Amino acid sequence: MAEKKTVATLLKMKAEGEKVSQVTCYDYSTAVRVNDAGIDTILVGDSLGMTMQGYSTTLPVTMDEMIVYGRSVVRGAKDTFVIMDMPFMSYQVSVEQAVANAGRLIKETNANAVKLEGGAAVVDQIRAIVDSGIPVCAHIGMTPQSVNAFGGFKVQGKGEENARRVLEDALKVQEAGAFMVVLECVPPKLAALITKKVNMITIGIGGGAGCDGQVLVMQDMLGITSGFVPKFVKKFAEIGEQMTNAFKAYDKEVKAGTFPTEAQSYVKSDSSDEFLAQLDGEY
Ligand code: KIV
Repeated sequence: MAEKKTVATLLKMKAEGEKVSQVTCYDYSTAVRVNDAGIDTILVGDSLGMTMQGYSTTLPVTMDEMIVYGRSVVRGAKDTFVIMDMPFMSYQVSVEQAVANAGRLIKETNANAVKLEGGAAVVDQIRAIVDSGIPVCAHIGMTPQSVNAFGGFKVQGKGEENARRVLEDALKVQEAGAFMVVLECVPPKLAALITKKVNMITIGIGGGAGCDGQVLVMQDMLGITSGFVPKFVKKFAEIGEQMTNAFKAYDKEVKAGTFPTEAQSYVKSDSSDEFLAQLDGEY
């Protein structure tokens, strides 16, 4: 039987050169499947604002919403390590607010760690959350909550000055106590260099194969996302097409009257013909 993954088992994987898998997940049924597939870690990402709620950015997602999705995931993820994303403005205002909200995410979902975006700018928050006993995954490079500051979802760390800044961010979040860092849209050679320089687990998304592990958004990798899909995504299935075809087939059968048949009906416990005739007469 598999055992619940921990910070220690994940760090041991890095030390032994074993890759760490991660996928985003937002509901119970999918979490059971992710768990059964043996994926190491789940990120309940604030990407749920886009994938589950239909917003164009992650910015509107609230703490209360994260908690509802997170609780459902944790109930399905028996062995998988679950990381809760801290939504926009749940940690930026003050260190106290960051610790209080990280605490809420863990207390109210029973997840194993929190993730927050930003490098040097959030090291005080990371240190205080870690000091309160909560493992922290940092997130640097392209940080979607800063979409307005970046002027779009753009690759970060291009050019020497930016590359130095991303590397320094990684070293600073590690120094503050992060055990894992997501490197999003960071040029692969820079991501590989960061991976070599830190003891934290580096998780790439658009960061190349040199990271310690990879994360993909569930709807992207299952082929459910409609519309724009980033270049770094590989579709491991075409579930979206299968869903549309299944809904079409159902719609057709309902309208043709060919669903349900006796096979889908509780015929054995049905009322007698005499009783139904009596009801027919009464009403
Ligand atoms: O919110 C999210 O899903 C993320 C991943 C894309 C890393 O932050």
